[in-house]
Amino acid sequence: MTPPARRALHRDLRAAADLVGCVRDGESLASALPRLGAAWDGAARGAAQALSFDALRGLGRASALLAALHPKRIKPAALDNLLRVSIALATAPEPPYPAHTLVSEAVQACALHPGTRAARGLVNALLRRLLNERDALLRQVLADDEARWNHPRWWIERLRAAYPDDWQTILEQDQRRAPLTLRVNVRQGSRDAYLERLRAQGLDAAAPAELPQALVLQRAVPVQQLPGFDDGAVSVQDGAAQRAAALLAARHGMRVLDACAAPGGKTAHIAELTDVELLALDHDAGRAERIGQTLQRLRLPAAQVRVADAASPASWWDGRAFDRILLDAPCSASGIVRRHPDIRWLRHDRDIDALARRQRELLDALWPLLAPGGRLLYATCSVFPEEGALQAADFARRHPDALAWAAPGQILPGTEPEQDGFFYALFAKPAAA
Ligand SMILES: C[S@@+](CC[C@H](N)C(=O)[O-])C[C@H]1O[C@@H](n2cnc3c(N)ncnc32)[C@H](O)[C@@H]1O
Repeated sequence: MTPPARRALHRDLRAAADLVGCVRDGESLASALPRLGAAWDGAARGAAQALSFDALRGLGRASALLAALHPKRIKPAALDNLLRVSIALATAPEPPYPAHTLVSEAVQACALHPGTRAARGLVNALLRRLLNERDALLRQVLADDEARWNHPRWWIERLRAAYPDDWQTILEQDQRRAPLTLRVNVRQGSRDAYLERLRAQGLDAAAPAELPQALVLQRAVPVQQLPGFDDGAVSVQDGAAQRAAALLAARHGMRVLDACAAPGGKTAHIAELTDVELLALDHDAGRAERIGQTLQRLRLPAAQVRVADAASPASWWDGRAFDRILLDAPCSASGIVRRHPDIRWLRHDRDIDALARRQRELLDALWPLLAPGGRLLYATCSVFPEEGALQAADFARRHPDALAWAAPGQILPGTEPEQDGFFYALFAKPAAA
C-alpha cells in the first residue's frame, strides 16, 4: 500500500479501499491494519481506520448502488473497492466529508494505484451520476434488505426469526459508534478519584450506577491520552463485558479458571477485585502472551497462564476442582458489531452452528472440573440464540445437576449505550451432601 507523504483525504481513501478489500477477501481489519506499514502509524492509521469503519457500515448499500450504476462486474479489485468505499461514504447518513469533496478526492486517489490509474474518467462519471441521481437510486436499491440494513441477508433473517419485535432496533444499533467505556483498576484508586483525574485533563465521563468500575467517556480519545493508562490505572472494556467479574463473584483465595482468557480483559478484572488463585487458558499462543502483558500493565498479581485447549482438560488439568469457572467462549462476535463493523462481512451462516457445537463441547468438558458449591459463568458476545439462550437451555437439559442462577441472559446492543450485545448464563453445582 502506498505510504502517505502527508495526510491527505485521497490517500486515506486509497488505504480504506485496500482495507475494505482485505475484509471482502475474508481478513479482519485488526489483522489488515498493521500491514498498512510504518508510514501509517498514529493519526494516519486512525484516519484510514475511521474511513474503513464508516465504509463497512455502508457496504451493503454501496454494493447495491454500484450494481445499479454499473451492472457489469468492475475490475480490477482495487478499482471496485475504491468505488464501493467512495459510494458508501458519499451516501452515509452522516458523511464524514461533503459528498463533492469525496468524489473529487476519489478521482485523485486513482493515481495512487496501478489498477485505478486509467480509470479516472470512469470513477468521475459514476460518482457524479451518483450525486445527480442519488435520491432515485437510493429509492431503487433500499427495497433490498442487505442494502437497507447493511448486513448479510442470512444475518438479517436470523435476527428477524429470533427477535420478531427487536430485529430492526438491533440492526440500527449495529450502525452506531459505540462510546469509549473504561474500567477503573480499583486496586489503584476509586472510580470517583479517576473521574477527577479525567476532569483535570478536560475529559468528562458518566459513571453508570449498575457498573461500579465503569466510566463512559463523553468523547473518545486515544488511550495514551488517558491519565495513568501506561501505569495500569484504567483499561478499555465495554460495559456488558464488565458484568462478568461481578457475576462470577469470586472470593478471596478461591481457585478460579478463566478458560478462554486472551487477551485477558476479564482475567484482569477478576484479579482487580480480589486475590484468587487464577489459571488463565487460551489455545492461541500469540493471544495467550497478551494475558501476561495485560496483567503486568495493570500491576496485578501474576496468574498462571497456559496455552491449552480448554475442551481437553486431560492435557492440562491437575485434578483439583475450581470454585469458579469463566467460559467466555469463542463466538460469532455478533454482539460487538458497533465496535467491529467488519465482523458482519466476515462471518458465514454456517459458522453459527459450528461455533455452537464448539461452545457445547467446551461447556461439557469444563463442567466436571467445577467443585461442589461452585459456579460456572458462560458468556458470549453474540446476539444469536444458538450461542446464548438456546445453548444454555440445552446445557441445562443435559446436566440436571446444573442449577441455573440469576444472570442477565441476553443483553442486546445499545439497550444501555455503554453495553454491547452479550449473553450470560450462570450455573451452580449443588454443594456436596
Ligand atoms: C471471546 S475471546 C476471550 C476474551 C477474553 N475473555 C477477554 O475478556 O479478554 C475467546 C478466546 O477463546 C480462545 N479459544 C477458542 N477456543 C479455545 C479453546 N478450545 N481453548 C482455549 N481457548 C480457546 C480464543 O483464542 C480467544 O482468545
